[in-house]
Amino acid sequence: MDTTAFYVAGVAVHGDDEVTVTHPYDGRVVGRTTWAGEQQVEAAVAAAAEVADRAAALPAHVRAAALDHVSARLGERREEIAALITAENGKPLKWARIEADRARSVFRWAAEEARRFAGDLQRLDTDPGGTGRIAVVKRVPRGPVLGISPFNFPLNLVAHKIAPAIAVGAPIVLKPAPATPLTALLLGELLAETDLPAGMFSVLPVPNERAAALVADPRLPIVSFTGSGPVGAQIRRAVPEKHVTLELGGNAAVLLCADYGSDADLGWAAQRVATFGTYQAGQSCIAVQRVYVHAGLTGFLPRLIDAVSALRTGDPNDPEVEVGPMISEDAARRVEDWVQEAVAAGATVVAGGKREGATYAPTILTDVPPGAKVVAEEVFGPVLVVSEVGDDAAGFAAINDSAYGLQAGVFTHNIQTAFAAHRELKVGGVIVGDVPSYRADQMPYGGMKGSGVGREGLASAMDDYTEPRVMVLTGVDL
Ligand code: SIN
Repeated sequence: MDTTAFYVAGVAVHGDDEVTVTHPYDGRVVGRTTWAGEQQVEAAVAAAAEVADRAAALPAHVRAAALDHVSARLGERREEIAALITAENGKPLKWARIEADRARSVFRWAAEEARRFAGDLQRLDTDPGGTGRIAVVKRVPRGPVLGISPFNFPLNLVAHKIAPAIAVGAPIVLKPAPATPLTALLLGELLAETDLPAGMFSVLPVPNERAAALVADPRLPIVSFTGSGPVGAQIRRAVPEKHVTLELGGNAAVLLCADYGSDADLGWAAQRVATFGTYQAGQSCIAVQRVYVHAGLTGFLPRLIDAVSALRTGDPNDPEVEVGPMISEDAARRVEDWVQEAVAAGATVVAGGKREGATYAPTILTDVPPGAKVVAEEVFGPVLVVSEVGDDAAGFAAINDSAYGLQAGVFTHNIQTAFAAHRELKVGGVIVGDVPSYRADQMPYGGMKGSGVGREGLASAMDDYTEPRVMVLTGVDL
């Protein structure tokens, strides 16, 4: 098995200390790479700082061509990439294919946004003192970006860091999750095929313990982090002077409103909640976790139990398997502990509730007391907590009773209820008629409260990576 290279200023290199990547399902070795040494990290950061001005001045067609190239190559190598995602992350192949397709679309969107990222013209003659003046407002990169990505989408959440950086002409140093570096390195290989200048991108496997030095480096004025709340908070405290964007997850909720009670409605909602409470073994920041059901919808829970119990677990390479392993046995043990703690506090397991190695069975809990971790914290596992609510207002209050606020789903046909949810819910996104797990990659994506600051999605991330620079012209008439 070859040792996969990493990328320092666009050049494939190896370090001295080996990293072994194993399959979460059976522990077999699926790849090897090496940790970036300190001098290699220094070379990557120095090159990013050095190329920053040139990168900012790159013509749009050069940036867009590089992004289009990566998009096309992701399409050509889709099957290989999906297999690699499954191998290092353990998600079933069908979800890995979806992730590969999404990343392709992220790069395509970034190319399109790069072509139209032109800034703004403002009239200043709105007051007598501004007569004969206009302002040209363009956005300029704040500087090189440090991207830190998680294991749960080892390709697409890397794409969401790198693609907008290239689109605005900002160099990026990307640190992939230590458990899943291989897909990010393959992306590095595709970027290395482009004509981007040296220093524009580096992909560096670095152990988490060494990330603090990168975060603190003043040559990387933007930190874009996706991961856990405590680490996000640590980053924010460590570098208050930097522009930090944090995507920190949540305990996403859905509400089934009273009007959503036909057989077809209940069937659709049960299927969507079952699938998106357990996809990727629940390891998505917008996986359904809390399910609030209007008390009159008594047909929902039996349907949900049937749908969840029908989900097949096992080897993620088996096309029949819908729920694969979690990222590690430790992660599955933590979920097991949280469920047992809830049961000890009075919760009832109505489906699942068992662990086998790194696989945790899709699980439904009822009667969960409010403070239990499975409802109050981010479970990041295939566990659904179902509770009844008396009306929509109680449902909205229950959704908002959370330290997080990423996305929420509201099953209703009533347009007034949809607008009320959009108005009342303290989240970054409300999905009407579906689960909170819906994400189109061009949409602004991010959260309120403990779910973070800033937004991903191509145009939003491009805004985050840049700041406005105004030029006032005097003596001109619009
Ligand atoms: C996440 O887990 O935050 C990403 C979810 C997604 O991109 O679908």
